[in-house]
This record gives sequence, structure tokens and C-alpha cells, in this order.
Amino acid sequence: MFRQFPLLFGICLMAALERTTAIDVTKDPDLIAKLKSAASQLDRLQYISEDANWVFDYKEQGYFWNTRPGGVVNANVNTFPAAFGNEMTMAWINLGACAMLTPHFHARAVNWVTAVSGNTTTYMYEENGAHTIKTQLDFGKATVFPRGSVHYMVNQACEDAILISALSNADAGTTNLNQVFNIGIPFDELKAAFGFDVNNSTSNNIPDIGTGANWGTEECLARCGITKDDSPPPPSFNGSAANIRRP
Ligand SMILES: *[C@@H]1O[C@H](CO)[C@@H](O)[C@H](O)[C@H]1NC(C)=O
Ligand SMILES: *[C@@H]1O[C@H](CO)[C@@H](O)[C@H](O)[C@H]1NC(C)=O
Ligand SMILES: *[C@@H]1O[C@H](CO)[C@@H](O)[C@H](O)[C@H]1NC(C)=O
Ligand SMILES: *[C@@H]1O[C@H](CO)[C@@H](O)[C@H](O)[C@H]1NC(C)=O
Repeated sequence: MFRQFPLLFGICLMAALERTTAIDVTKDPDLIAKLKSAASQLDRLQYISEDANWVFDYKEQGYFWNTRPGGVVNANVNTFPAAFGNEMTMAWINLGACAMLTPHFHARAVNWVTAVSGNTTTYMYEENGAHTIKTQLDFGKATVFPRGSVHYMVNQACEDAILISALSNADAGTTNLNQVFNIGIPFDELKAAFGFDVNNSTSNNIPDIGTGANWGTEECLARCGITKDDSPPPPSFNGSAANIRRP
């Protein structure tokens, strides 16, 4: 059963999550329950005994695996049961040309990000009174976003970027800040809190979290000749080393 799960799950996920938000759905809650109640790791291993249970294929995570605009594919306790108890999430970020990850934080994890290709700008803000840290990550460069820090990243180039994102928790939690406008706070209170008419100016245009990546600026899209509507279908990166651009 479990061996066949990835394909089945991929198909169901693509159907269920198309045009919804990037929330990882637990692939196999029954299996997680068993892993949780097992007395030891040796006991746990009987439930994940196939070699295939220990391989996570980012490219098989259909909806999230694309480069137009991109996506964040998480190998974590939801998507990869072998991650249970192993204290980390390894995410693969495809950040297409002119795409961004909107401002967000992880309540339960430190986040290291390493650039494999492309040229990504990151911004990070730790707390009230701190100054904003800006970095430029091209091939072989990394940065760290401390636990709970607000961060976002944008690809202002016309080439796709790939980043590997390591989080110090198999259940890191992601909160996107834009979505605060849509969590049910009365609009007049939002207006008072933010000092402008949120409902009229922004709330109706806030993009879904989607795959975790969103389109960036109109300036970039125009400069790179990208039209949101007629972008090529995902995925355009197939994992071949030949597709990893080097400087
Ligand atoms: C990355 O982008 C920055 C900002 O546009 C630019 O200054 C830098 O030269 C670029 N780096 C590479 C390797 O293209
Ligand atoms: C704010 O916008 C939403 C979405 O269009 C609408 O349902 C709601 O009635 C608006 N609220 C006010 C106070 O105008
Ligand atoms: C939005 O703007 C319109 C026109 O300026 C105004 O009549 C309306 O009251 C505004 N809505 C809110 C929720 O403030
Ligand atoms: C993957 O991409 C490489 C380089 O573009 C290409 O040679 C190879 O045929 C592709 N493989 C598949 C399965 O599409």
C-alpha cells in the first residue's frame, strides 16, 4: 500500500489542491499515528521497511513542482513519513524568473537557504527595532533566517533559480503575512490597525499562497517578456544536472 502511495497521492493532491493554498496535507495519517505510538525507532522501522519508503522525489510532488511562477516542495513529516522524529524539513525551492516567496515566518524552525542556481535577493527582519538584512544569493551562497524571523525572497532575473531550504523541524510551520488581511479581522479594525483602507486597496487582490511562490513585479515581467497567462506548463526543470545553470 505505502509503496503505491506517492503516485496515488500525487494525482489526488493535484486534483484537490489545484488553485488552493500551499498547505502540506499529511499523506498517510494512519502511518504517522503508528510511528508516533511506536516505543522505539526499531519498532518504527517495521512500518517503513521498504527502501522506497526512504526516498523522497521532489519531482513527483506535482502541484508544487513547477517554475511558473515556481513552488516550494517540502520533504517533511506530512509528505515524507521517514522524516518523522528526524527533526528537519528539506525543502526544494524552484523560484521562476520574476517570482517571489511572499513575506512569511516559521514559528518552529530556523531556516537555512542555499542557492544552487540563479540570483535570488533575500530580505530578513528579526524583530521590532532590528534592521533589515538583505542578501544576494547566487550559485553556492547561503543565508540563515533565524527562527521566527520574517523573510522573503525574490528572483529579479530572467532566469529560473533553484534553492535548497533546510528547516530545523520536521513540522516547521509557515505563516504568510499577507494573509492576515483575510483571516477574519473586521475590515474597519484592519483599517484602524494599518492606517489605510485595506479592504478597498489590497484585500481583494492578495494572491493565494498557491504553491508557495507568487509572481513578482510587473517591471520584471515586462523586462523578461513573461506573461503570467501563457507561461509554459510546469515543470521545466527535470532534475538533470544539465539543467543546473552554473556561473
Ligand atoms: C545578482 O543580482 C544583483 C542585483 O541585481 C547584481 O548586482 C549581481 O551582479 C548579480 N549577480 C550575478 C552573479 O549575476
Ligand atoms: C470587503 O471586501 C470583501 C471582498 O470583496 C467584501 O465581501 C466585504 O463586504 C467588504 N467589506 C466592507 C466593509 O466593505
Ligand atoms: C471603499 O471605497 C468606497 C469609495 O471610496 C467607499 O464608498 C467605501 O466606503 C469604502 N469601503 C470601505 C470598507 O471603507
Ligand atoms: C532532462 O533535461 C535534460 C537536459 O535538458 C535532457 O537532456 C533530458 O532528456 C531530460 N530528461 C527528461 C526525462 O526529460
